[in-house]
Amino acid sequence: MGSLVHPAPQKLKPPVLPQGDSCLVVIFGATGDLTRRKLIPALYDLACVGCTSRDFEVLGIGRTKLEDADFGARMHEGAATSKDARHFTEEGWNDFAKRLHYLVGDAGKPDFYPQLKAKIEEMQKSGASKNVLFYVSTSASLAPPIVEGLGQAGLARNGEGWTRIVLEKPFGRDLASAQELNEIVSRVFDERSVYRIDHYLGKETVQNIMMFRFGNAMFEPVWNRNYIDYIEITAAEKLGVEGRGAFYEETGALRDMVANHMLQLLMLTAMEPPVSFDADAVRGHKVEVLSAIRTMSKDEVAKHTVRGQYGPGTIDGKPVPGYRNEPGVKPDSLTETYAAVEFHIDNWRWAGVPFYVRAGKRLANQLTEIAVHFKRTPQALFSRKPADVHHNVITMRIQPNEGISLSFGAKQPGSEFRAIRVDMDFSYHDAFGTETPAAYETLLLDVMRGDPTLFTRRDEVEAEWRIITPIEEAWAELPPAPFPNYAAGSEGPAEADKLITHDQLRWRPLAHADGQHS
Ligand code: BG6
Repeated sequence: MGSLVHPAPQKLKPPVLPQGDSCLVVIFGATGDLTRRKLIPALYDLACVGCTSRDFEVLGIGRTKLEDADFGARMHEGAATSKDARHFTEEGWNDFAKRLHYLVGDAGKPDFYPQLKAKIEEMQKSGASKNVLFYVSTSASLAPPIVEGLGQAGLARNGEGWTRIVLEKPFGRDLASAQELNEIVSRVFDERSVYRIDHYLGKETVQNIMMFRFGNAMFEPVWNRNYIDYIEITAAEKLGVEGRGAFYEETGALRDMVANHMLQLLMLTAMEPPVSFDADAVRGHKVEVLSAIRTMSKDEVAKHTVRGQYGPGTIDGKPVPGYRNEPGVKPDSLTETYAAVEFHIDNWRWAGVPFYVRAGKRLANQLTEIAVHFKRTPQALFSRKPADVHHNVITMRIQPNEGISLSFGAKQPGSEFRAIRVDMDFSYHDAFGTETPAAYETLLLDVMRGDPTLFTRRDEVEAEWRIITPIEEAWAELPPAPFPNYAAGSEGPAEADKLITHDQLRWRPLAHADGQHS
């Protein structure tokens, strides 16, 4: 561990957020976990900081029979305990709760939609906005009937105000189902009104990847195969499946994390500089990265990927059950809770540079980061052998302890010329001294303002599946992995260590990581 160089002489002022257009937010899946834990806290916060208009209202839709007040009480619990509702006060909530409405109904049935239309019109007559933002936060199988239902009821096109739809992941479960869903969506909605959300893109630290690379002159010249040896992208969670066993059984770590969040991190790390910060320029360059990622044959999948599933273990000193003992999970489940993949990008900039990506639940630490390992010096001037020369590493810490560090060798004080690894460190907290808005807050505001830059385009989703589907298919055909193959609270499956064959290196350790290891 090296010393720290603190970057900020003074705290900078938090940015003032702009106001979104007025709108009525209609949430499908309103009794679900995401609405309570993420969407409502984000909307509450936007209302508190003055980003919503006076005619802003929320209409939740769910199958459970609830009165408006019951729905409000459920949402109160979510907002009061969520760290995303940064400005929560009981007084503020009482004001916000007046804007919460609820409609019971089965969104999977076509006859629900005339009822929904009547409710929206009734709310608009009483002063709700003519702009309507539909948010689909349901199981994947409900997305097509919801989109069709809105279309048939005439709710999908701009009327007196705008109409926009936000689609939560997963967008299908493979390439074919994603294409099918996209076909339905494009028949019903104008693509400019469609916002496919990947909440990682709403994180300040993720957006900062572009700022770091393209807003500074010194990194881009070395950001290529001539200087970079390999790149590691990690999303490690201590959490297990948190009551979402049934959902997770259908999903697994590859679909849940790698197919979207991890590929987004990879794209932002690897993309070419766009000519402008225009939504299509940015997204076009991201999709180019995906098109250059090598798809794998079954044999390559066997060699370049590792699956894992956690068994019982210890997290923060407390015993926790194995995945197969979680509610909603089959006792002989073969679903992976850990996935590691070696990707290759076959283009001029990245040929020969492996991108090692891993995501897993119930690991030794919570840590999401991108570590860019530079090549060693061509001569081992201060070490006995070349393998002792440190790599320079730039680490972008997405969460927690958000920041960026650069590790390098410095001369240890003394008569000898001994290199010791030290870090220069930028910490969001030290520099800005403020909590940044939650990802959902940023993204919901972008939808209200009609800015799709941080949303996934149709071709991007399909390109993601083009890479992931062959891995899923090969895993289904290859002999099953010996699950469980890692203990909760560990570094993950031992097999994953064999994935990085590169130069006798290994994954950056998770345990005891404080975000500044190298
Ligand atoms: C979600 C996944 O998309 O992302 C979850 O479905 C995962 O399984 C979560 O826990 C991680 O998000 P974050 O913002 O906590 O890194």
